[in-house]
Amino acid sequence: MQTKLIRIDSEHIDIVKMREAATLIREGELVAFPTETVYGLGADALRPEASAKIYEAKGRPSDNPLIVHICRFEELERIAKIVPEQARKLAEAFWPGPLTMVVWKNEKVPYTTTGGMDTVAVRMPNHPVALSLIAESGCLIAAPSANTSGKPSPTEAGHVADDMDGRIPMILDGGAVGIGIESTIVDLTEEKPMILRPGYITKQMLEEVLGEEVIIDPGILATDTTDPSQAGQKPKAPGMRYKHYAPKADLVLVEGDTDKVVVEINNLVEDAQIDGKRVGVIATDETMNRYKADVVFSIGARDDEDAIAQHLYKILREFDEQDVDAIYSESFKTPRIGQAIMNRLLKAAGYQVLYV
Ligand code: TXA
Ligand code: MG
Repeated sequence: MQTKLIRIDSEHIDIVKMREAATLIREGELVAFPTETVYGLGADALRPEASAKIYEAKGRPSDNPLIVHICRFEELERIAKIVPEQARKLAEAFWPGPLTMVVWKNEKVPYTTTGGMDTVAVRMPNHPVALSLIAESGCLIAAPSANTSGKPSPTEAGHVADDMDGRIPMILDGGAVGIGIESTIVDLTEEKPMILRPGYITKQMLEEVLGEEVIIDPGILATDTTDPSQAGQKPKAPGMRYKHYAPKADLVLVEGDTDKVVVEINNLVEDAQIDGKRVGVIATDETMNRYKADVVFSIGARDDEDAIAQHLYKILREFDEQDVDAIYSESFKTPRIGQAIMNRLLKAAGYQVLYV
C-alpha cells in the first residue's frame, strides 16, 4: 500500500485535504493524525471491521481497547450507557484536552473497539487537525497512539511514517505535538474516580474540579512486575499491563542531587567504555556539557517540565538509531507532570534506578 503523507497547516486548515482524509475514515480506512498529546491512528469507532484494521496495522493485541475521539460533548451521550455527573464537570474543565474518561458503553460501541470490555474510553482532543477530521468525517474516531505496538508513541509525523509506511493509506502531518506524552485516563465506573494512566492532567487538577478524592490505580504504582510481593497488582487499563517500550540499549536511571548524579553517570560511562561499550546519556541543557559519553542528548531545561515531556519519546527513538549499548539518564521527578514522565521512563528502563 502506498502511504500518502499530507502536510496540514494547523492555523489554516486546507478543507479539501481534510475531506480526502475524512472520506477514507468514512470508507472504513485508517488515517494517522496529530493530537496535542501524541499522533493517533484513526478509524471509524462504530464499525468493527474498521477498528480491526488498527490492531492489524499496529500489531496490537486485540484485547487492548481503543480510545474513542469525539468533537462534541453530545457524542459522549450517544455512546455511553449513562453519563456520570463527574464527566460533565471534567469535560467542562478539560475538554478539548489531554483527558480520557472511561464510562459504561452502550450497544452502539462494538466490542472490537473496546477490546471486549463493557466500558469505553472517550476523549475530545485539543488539536485543530484532529477536531476537523472528526467533524468532517461525521464519525467517532477510535485511535490508539500511531506507533507499532511496543515502540514509543510518535510525537512527529516522521515517527509515524517510520512505523506505518506502506501499512496505512494516509498520514496527516501537523508538525510536532505540543504535550508529547499520552492523555491522563480517569475511570468513572468505579466507586471513586480512579487514574488508570497519569498524564498532563494531574490528580490535584481532577480533585479540584470534582471536589472529591481521586485515587490512583494501585496497579500502576507497583514498580516491579517481577517482584512476587507486588503480584496481583495488575493495572486496570489493559495497555498498562503489556511489556512496554524498552530501548535496544540497556537503560539505567540515576537519581539524586544533580552534582552527584553527574559524577556517578560519568563513572558509569567510563566503566562501560572500558568494557568496549558505546554509551549514551540523557541530560538536561544545564548538564549536557559535563558528560563525556559517546552520545549525549539534552531533554530540555531542568525546570521546563513541558519540554521534558515533549522530547522524551523522540530521544528514546533517536537512541535506537544511534547503536549505543548502554544509556544512563538523569531522573525527572518534576512537580506537576513528573509522575507521568517517570511512569513512562521507568518502564523504558525496566525499573532500573540507581540512587546517589
Ligand atoms: O493521548 C492519548 O490518549 C493518545 C492520543 C492518540 O489520543 N492515545 C493513546 O491511545 O494513548 P493508546 O491506545 O495508545 O492507549 C490507550 C490506553 C491503553 O492503555 C488502553 O488499555 C486504555 O487506554 N483503555 C482504553 N479503553 C479502556 C477501557 N475501556 N478501560 C480501561 N482502559 C482502557
Ligand atoms: Mg499507545
